[in-house]
Amino acid sequence: MSGKLENKVAVITGGNSGIGLATAKLFAEQGAKVVITGRRPDVVNRAAAAIGHGAIGIPGDVAKLTDLEKLYGTVHEKFGKIDILIANAAAYAVAPLASFTEEMFDQLSNINFKGTFFTVQKALPYLRDGASVVLTSSVVAEKGVPNHSIYSATKAAVRSLARSLSAELLDRKIRVNVLTPGPVDTPVFESIANTPEGVEAVKAAMSQFAPVKRIASAEELAEATLFLASDASAFMVGSELLIDGGIRSL
Ligand SMILES: NC(=O)c1ccc[n+]([C@@H]2O[C@H](COP(=O)([O-])OP(=O)(O)OC[C@H]3O[C@@H](n4cnc5c(N)ncnc54)[C@H](OP(=O)(O)O)[C@@H]3O)[C@@H](O)[C@H]2O)c1
Repeated sequence: MSGKLENKVAVITGGNSGIGLATAKLFAEQGAKVVITGRRPDVVNRAAAAIGHGAIGIPGDVAKLTDLEKLYGTVHEKFGKIDILIANAAAYAVAPLASFTEEMFDQLSNINFKGTFFTVQKALPYLRDGASVVLTSSVVAEKGVPNHSIYSATKAAVRSLARSLSAELLDRKIRVNVLTPGPVDTPVFESIANTPEGVEAVKAAMSQFAPVKRIASAEELAEATLFLASDASAFMVGSELLIDGGIRSL
């Protein structure tokens, strides 16, 4: 039986961990030629091997325009045009208003906002007409959550980008949509808790935050991304798929 993404070329930023890695594995199983990127070469290479199905890893930083140009040049050389682009890479940092540093502000802005914008812009010459682009936002983009001001603002910017970029790319039939996760079980929590117990405590708190009283698995988000990436979502343009355990609505 053929897969839902047979022979499609898919580039996934942040494909070496969490939601990006689960998505890369699912896409590869569904027949896609998968390319992942992330900053840590060893982790990128190990992840590409774990994904299998001929997936390749190209280390790079989405906040560096030269890395993006190198990434797309290599993808084009190896696979030709890109059918699916998943702009998933992001940094997460939280702190109260009074102690949020300029360094944290710049890091979140450069990776989450600037990085996402140029991930799409630099792909333009290599995207096939009719391609599907998925940007990853977060449920906190439309909620006021203490300590999350800048992270949330960058994710609101990402939500906005999908509308504007879809409008600009309509003539090429390129759809830009947003995946909006609530809390998901990924290594991201290790960036704000230093011990295994601390990570578990953060996950438990996140579970309480969601009306369904649990956090999602990365695989659940991968399935949602597959829908957005495939023609099954052909009538979604500049839109959003909310997978948040009821946080926004209940
Ligand atoms: N987990 C959640 O609860 C949750 C909730 C809402 C939204 N999200 C969003 O979902 C997406 C995936 O998050 P996740 O939970 O799967 O996190 P994760 O496991 O920490 O993965 C983040 C990925 O992004 C990559 N990355 C970070 N900065 C990068 C940069 N400058 N250039 C290239 N790659 C970079 C990381 O690789 P390197 O470190 O090797 O660069 C890593 O592969 C993010 O956009 C996140 O904001 C997550």
